[in-house]
Amino acid sequence: MSLRALFALPLLCAACSDRPSFDEDDIRRATLGTGLPPGFLLGTATASHQIEGGTSNDWSAWEQGSFPDGQPHIRDGSVSGDAAGAWERFEVDLGLMRALGASAYRFSLEWSRLQPARGQWDEDALARYREQARQLREAGITPLVTLYHFTLPAWVADAGGWENPATLDDFEAYAARIARELGGDVDWWCTVNEPNVLAVFGYLDGVWPPGKKDTKAMATALSHLIEAHARAARQLRALDTADADGDGHATRVGLAHHVRIFQPATGSTADVTAAGLTDAFFNESVPQALRTGRIRLSVPAQVSIDREVDGLEGSSDYLGINYYSRDFVRQDFGEASLSNQYVPDGRPVNDLGWDIYPEGLFLFLRRFRDMGIPLLVTENGMADASGTRRPDYLRAHVYAVEQAVKEGVDVRGYFHWSLMDNFEWAEGFTPRFGLFRVDFASPDKARVPTPAVETFQDVARNLGLTPAP
Ligand code: GCO
Repeated sequence: MSLRALFALPLLCAACSDRPSFDEDDIRRATLGTGLPPGFLLGTATASHQIEGGTSNDWSAWEQGSFPDGQPHIRDGSVSGDAAGAWERFEVDLGLMRALGASAYRFSLEWSRLQPARGQWDEDALARYREQARQLREAGITPLVTLYHFTLPAWVADAGGWENPATLDDFEAYAARIARELGGDVDWWCTVNEPNVLAVFGYLDGVWPPGKKDTKAMATALSHLIEAHARAARQLRALDTADADGDGHATRVGLAHHVRIFQPATGSTADVTAAGLTDAFFNESVPQALRTGRIRLSVPAQVSIDREVDGLEGSSDYLGINYYSRDFVRQDFGEASLSNQYVPDGRPVNDLGWDIYPEGLFLFLRRFRDMGIPLLVTENGMADASGTRRPDYLRAHVYAVEQAVKEGVDVRGYFHWSLMDNFEWAEGFTPRFGLFRVDFASPDKARVPTPAVETFQDVARNLGLTPAP
């Protein structure tokens, strides 16, 4: 990812120092799952547009179009279409979760399905999601519901999307309705998925809708996405007062924050500084806002946002961490961001060329301990079409979680991305992230277990869970 601007934020390089290195034999020997705390949420994660099929939102429009240079928006030319057909196959997928022995499931609601037009609600869709949450709970699987995972209803996008402050009112109203409708079965809520990724891809790199390359728009959208979290949190807490699982908490609200390790390519001051700036913007802006209740984003001569947001401080009961990979950073004055990110040749990578670095997950869990709230790994996984490398990836990252727990970090859950293969945004259907492979061409969208299903089941058993036969 290229950051096109230099963000004048305090230099930080928590990721540069004190770098651990896991021993492969230790990972192999570990009885994974035994090092996780009681009640740990072990699950998988998905998002509506990526799996449901039949969705109609700002992404479905984007998928049809092409860049000004004539290139299609989706690398492999696909459109999300009927995706994994999950809207009609929830009961099948619930069976997969039970077979895994999962105790939790993170999924998102498709706002455009629920509210296809301003002021218009689809009662059937509401009932269907309510039913999904109820069935999960009956199966002993804790639902963690994401309100917004990258897709906006067309009427919201057309009105200016995340650049328009009025979207915050619409989002808050949506959150309020959902709290009332689903609160009886849902305690764990994720307001917004990856504000930083959406801001960069959608508004700075222009590779996701709305396809802008505008630093100012990027900062505005990011700031609104953070505020949207605070506003949704307020509604969820006020209106979801039903403690579905009887643990004394009717609502646990958080957001899912995408983090990447930015490792300086060398120990030179130039590279260390470049990595620190990238880290400060990408990894720290959101947690910093949550910690202080103040959004601070500044780009010299372009953007200066420094504002306190009502209700932002204390708005999170947990921090969700989406972690996949590491980038190496080299200073480069030819780039507007003054650096470029890359993965050195010879490193183990996934099918998308992302460096495999489980120690990074441990580093972030340790680093965000200072948030003073529980942490959840809300996403972690790998694109692996062969399916043969995912077991090691999964083991190494669960090991990373256990190492953090051993150091006293309060980690409450791990959600593997993903339950099944799905529509991977601008990459299309080519990357395969699923524990279950989806045969997209088959009429029933057959789900086929990959070898990592057994790995997941082992962890579940060691945690005291029971995979269904
Ligand atoms: C993201 C999303 C997921 C992705 C996953 C794999 O990080 O972009 O939350 O929707 O599919 O991370 O890239």
